[in-house]
Amino acid sequence: MGIEELVRENVKILAPYSSARDEFWGMDYVLLDANENPYDTDINRYPDPYQRLLKTKVAKIKGVRSDQIFIGNGSDEIIDLLFRVFCEPYKDTCYALSPSYGMYKVSASINAVDIHYSSLRDDFSIDVTDLLSNVKSSDKLLFLCSPNNPTGNIFSLSDLNEICYSFKGIVIIDEAYIDFSDHSSMISRLDRFDNLVVLQTMSKAWGAAGLRVGLGFMNKEIVHFLNKIKPPYNVNQLSQNRALKLLEDVESHESIVNKIISQRKWLESELKHCKSVIKVHNSEANYILVQFQHPKEIYELLKSEGIIVRDRTAAPLCSGCLRLTIGKSDENIRMLNLIKSFSK
Ligand SMILES: Cc1ncc(COP(=O)(O)O)c(C=O)c1O
Repeated sequence: MGIEELVRENVKILAPYSSARDEFWGMDYVLLDANENPYDTDINRYPDPYQRLLKTKVAKIKGVRSDQIFIGNGSDEIIDLLFRVFCEPYKDTCYALSPSYGMYKVSASINAVDIHYSSLRDDFSIDVTDLLSNVKSSDKLLFLCSPNNPTGNIFSLSDLNEICYSFKGIVIIDEAYIDFSDHSSMISRLDRFDNLVVLQTMSKAWGAAGLRVGLGFMNKEIVHFLNKIKPPYNVNQLSQNRALKLLEDVESHESIVNKIISQRKWLESELKHCKSVIKVHNSEANYILVQFQHPKEIYELLKSEGIIVRDRTAAPLCSGCLRLTIGKSDENIRMLNLIKSFSK
């Protein structure tokens, strides 16, 4: 099935808003077309609606073409826009793994789209047979998060390939944490699968959660439909400038990522020796899911000392589990010492 056949009718026929900067972009003109203020403040002009400079830089780093990139106000915006392009409210459905990132469900609900789940196995791997045999004909989107939040594991490329090949809607592989993993991204499969969307973000490994810059990689036809419905200036000028600057410095980025990975490995091995710990789940992300004998008490102990972690005890397959984000070395030591001090 072609991409266009999956798109909502109203989006197909939509005449998008044409902003002044859609028609002219660049600084060599006398710009009297957008009711902007002519006095220079660095931000008196509307930003480039298509973030061309930023996309050129991202394309180079990621080894893709610029026309395969869509940039959102955080990857959460891209998730929402995908619902709006593909899912007819109260009619189409979407599919996800459980447990996984909670925003898929929230975004589905906002867009009046039912979501259903395939459970991960106890070892957090995908049961591909179960997943594929429970696809509904109304499923337009399938969300897979790899490395998965909150479990921290990455899914095998062969499973992901099989799913992209077999699922007839859009497969979204959310790689928000991929830079913390040794495994390769599914970006390399973009030319193979027209229905593949890979999401990454500047919020994690690039240390820029405050910027709200989400990176989507996909077939250019999907980019076209997302562009049709997005708010015209969805990524502001300051964020575009700052993101470009961060991307210039790949060395600092890699050095910070390596520090976080080595802290994760250290914390994993230390936690395994703590009496209160039942299981330390392997992680390829910047957090570790840890099962404790007394998770609520550990949570409260940490909180009483000013350390906040995420209680995931209510998530499916995560009974007793807290999700610990990897902090700086001194922060991790403080957290570890408190966990070690717990006795019951
Ligand atoms: C799996 C996953 N995807 C996406 C996001 C959101 O990323 P962004 O900050 O780019 O909206 C998060 C944030 O925690 C996440 O865990």
